[in-house]
Amino acid sequence: MSAGVRKAIVPVAGLGTRFLPATKATPKEMLPVVDKPAIQYVVEEAVRAGLDDVLFVTGRGKTSIEDHFDRQPEVEDKLTGDAGKADLLSRVQASTSLARIHFVRQGEARGLGHAVLQGAQHVGSEPFAVLLGDDLIDERDALLTEMVGVQQRLGGCVIALMEVPADQIHLYGCAAVESIGETDVVRVTGLVEKPPTDEAPSNLAVIGRYVLAPEIFDALRVTAPGRGGEIQLTDAIEALIDKAGEGGPVHGVVFRGRRYDTGDKADYLKSIVRIAADRSDLGPEFRDWLGEFVADRLPHGDPAEPITP
Ligand code: UTP
Repeated sequence: MSAGVRKAIVPVAGLGTRFLPATKATPKEMLPVVDKPAIQYVVEEAVRAGLDDVLFVTGRGKTSIEDHFDRQPEVEDKLTGDAGKADLLSRVQASTSLARIHFVRQGEARGLGHAVLQGAQHVGSEPFAVLLGDDLIDERDALLTEMVGVQQRLGGCVIALMEVPADQIHLYGCAAVESIGETDVVRVTGLVEKPPTDEAPSNLAVIGRYVLAPEIFDALRVTAPGRGGEIQLTDAIEALIDKAGEGGPVHGVVFRGRRYDTGDKADYLKSIVRIAADRSDLGPEFRDWLGEFVADRLPHGDPAEPITP
């Protein structure tokens, strides 16, 4: 069994162009999903998987992320002593005590692989997780916990995969895989970044959760800029596929739960609706309103489209 997984790298230095102009002055990771910024859900997920050390890879314009995970004494002082505000106070303080939080700057957005490489010194020689700050996994789905378990059992690197429609695979990294006789854990035999549909080796897309061996840093150091002139994390992971015991093998966990890309406008809206509808405090009133709203929008006489989970 390899060393335990304690540390997470969360890259948040991307430019967020898909969400402009909202992301001109606000990082996309700070956009609120109900009443917490998306990035807090991501850190909470890491903590649920047993990690206690989070390194954010930030860039220019991202200081609000640092502020969010720092104390806010003026607000806390105001809320302290007001018995009616105890719950609000504990929610304000929650983000500061989740984990040990660290920051490093990327300087220039040269790709996800380059962002992860900025964490090399902090991580050292242990396996670690990477969670993309704009990828939200529903808290009822324990994807990262399962991935950590697979890494501990099989060693090497573990990536998260999700089936997507064939006409969407060009938006993702795509994995060629073979069975190892387990349900939803496969061996990865190849990776290709954003392939055209007719060249994709499967419909399995790489999504934003990774548990990586520390050898990935050496692979990243020699990874040439790939697609889009960026240093791609998938290229470095692919280099480890055949290196059993030296960063490899690479396995994939096929995720069948709920995931939202909060950097994408439609997915961002879905994440808010789903989370609000399922909350015990807001849910009952919101679901009633949503039901009426949807019924009102349906053309009269047409049967409702079935709602996908
Ligand atoms: P994306 O490509 O989704 O993020 O990168 P982006 O560039 O911010 O967004 P768009 O496509 O322009 O809207 C995936 C993740 O990798 C981080 C991003 O912050 C995001 O969490 N990233 C990407 C970096 O930290 N540095 C980079 O150089 C590139």
